[in-house]
Amino acid sequence: MSDEETRPQPDCQGEKAAPDLLGDWRRTDMCGELNARDAGRSVTLMGWVWSLRDLGKLLFFEMRDRTGVIQVTLRADEQPELFARVKQWRAEFVVAVRGAVRERSADTINPDMATGAVEIIPDEVKMLNYSDVPPISTSADEEIDERLRLRYRYLDLRSPRMQKNLWVRHRLCQSLRSFLNEEDFWEIETPYLTRSTPEGARDYLVPTRLGPDRFYALPQSPQLFKQLLMLSGYDKYYQLVRCFRDEDLRADRQPEFTQLDIEMSFVGEEEIYSLVERMFQRVFREVIGVEIELPFERMTYEEALDWYGTDKPDLRYAMQLVDLSRQVAESEFRIFSRTVDSGGVVKGFVVPRGADASRSDIDAWEQRAREYGAAGLLWIAWDGNPLSGLDAVRSPISAHLEPSEVREIASACGADAGDLLLLVAGERREVNRVLGLMRVDVADQLNLVSGEDSWEFLWVVQPPLFELEEGSYTSVHHPFTAPLAEDEHKLERDPLSVRSRQYDLVLNGVELASGSIRNHRSDIQQTIFDILDISPQEQQEKFGFLLEAFSYGAPPHGGIAPGLDRIAMLLAGEDTIRDVIAFPKASAGRELMTGAPAEVRAEQLKQLALRVDRDNQ
Ligand code: AMO
Repeated sequence: MSDEETRPQPDCQGEKAAPDLLGDWRRTDMCGELNARDAGRSVTLMGWVWSLRDLGKLLFFEMRDRTGVIQVTLRADEQPELFARVKQWRAEFVVAVRGAVRERSADTINPDMATGAVEIIPDEVKMLNYSDVPPISTSADEEIDERLRLRYRYLDLRSPRMQKNLWVRHRLCQSLRSFLNEEDFWEIETPYLTRSTPEGARDYLVPTRLGPDRFYALPQSPQLFKQLLMLSGYDKYYQLVRCFRDEDLRADRQPEFTQLDIEMSFVGEEEIYSLVERMFQRVFREVIGVEIELPFERMTYEEALDWYGTDKPDLRYAMQLVDLSRQVAESEFRIFSRTVDSGGVVKGFVVPRGADASRSDIDAWEQRAREYGAAGLLWIAWDGNPLSGLDAVRSPISAHLEPSEVREIASACGADAGDLLLLVAGERREVNRVLGLMRVDVADQLNLVSGEDSWEFLWVVQPPLFELEEGSYTSVHHPFTAPLAEDEHKLERDPLSVRSRQYDLVLNGVELASGSIRNHRSDIQQTIFDILDISPQEQQEKFGFLLEAFSYGAPPHGGIAPGLDRIAMLLAGEDTIRDVIAFPKASAGRELMTGAPAEVRAEQLKQLALRVDRDNQ
């Protein structure tokens, strides 16, 4: 039976009878937890009407609470009075049912329903509250526009999908907390009303009555406070903490999000890797029953860029980038030889069985590569044995290639009959970037991601400490990250070549966590501030308290912060963190339900000595 038939239609809203009182009724069980073992028990359930099916002499309705759905069955001849009352009920009415759990006959068991082996035969019912016809369906199988879902989030949260997602998130938090507590970590809270923390995004400012030019900043992370806690001797700290960043939103980015913030003293990278790996192993086992293999793979940042064109490679599929510059350095095809001559590279990746790709697929990829900034995308398809030279090859540039050159290319990239090689020529960083993006697109389009239960964790380590942004040095992570000891001597002379003690944890191409070993020596911290061109006065203003604190015995320390929303998203099998947050912001940063951000009363502005400049939006 289709959903249309089972769910009440909007024009058949029942008469609004006065709701019954709860009286001395007390709930004994949850709807979704009853099964054949409960047969014969008398239970009291409370929840919402999910669907009603009136078959004339027989009436079924499904009742729902946080745990799931159960069927209640009524017969007109056995319970005429109850039957007549329940017939008036509509979807989303709040109801209570007292009755017996009965095992269903073999032919009526519903294997798709957790409680599908039983039904409730009611003795008494109460209607506790009515509901208007809901503007969106709460059923599992209807695709609803996300803006509507967010506008009526309180209804959307009734859907089995959102119930499951919030359950996963809850279990995740429970599992993380119990693991860290067992490892002797202390959960300590840090302030939300504080001053700016440098994580690279814009701050949310909070005006206060304490002065017309005084603002708190909501923390982008508790970075400074957790380092101070180490200095104070708290050794092992964690916090499930809200962070605030005024930055552009994406599927995996919200302006307020939750981190599992961790810091430890007297440790190096290995202790942090080991802790985090064991933690994820425990979480995956407890939350979704998946056994993760340890240790996780590791790769340097340089290797990640060179092999996958990104610092967060998805290792669920291969298609590693291959540098073919040597094989094509002397090519008659001038784009190749000229690129290599002028210090550039020719790189590519092999799409397994990609020779079948249609001309329009290849044209679309070419177009995409241009959008990503490449001058073009070249391809070689092998219809036959790659070792047979040009006979087996299809390519827009085959007329310019020598048989030996094609053979060398094929053997360097390990191409087989039926494979397709996609190639880009140009400056190394650009080529890596474009191929990295193309690799993800092609894998998506050709469904190369292996299985739902494929979990490829990867540590990407030792990225540079600094990068150049508009001619100035900025921190790749944040200014408190320590340089690699063997690169320390290059700090002043050649900052861009200094590698850091930062590590990122990547899962299936998503950056899950980022952390580092910190500077605990104030001289190095000072040098880093100098390289970042933070003037002594600004250092004093922004971080004076930290520098001062560090002069009173700072232990070696380091930490990490996994993004809770992203972990929950992957565990729940969702594509965006909005689906694992109860009340997320819509893509423009707005709350569609409350209308925030909203105007405030003139009176409030006056108290804060603020005036709105509408011309300067
Ligand atoms: P970082 O800024 O890399 O490091 O953040 C750590 C992790 O937080 C998550 N994350 C986000 N999740 C959702 N929406 C966002 N806007 C968002 N921004 C970040 C990601 C990311 O990996 N203080 C350092 C950590 C440390 O050094 O210990 C920090 O905040 O999963």
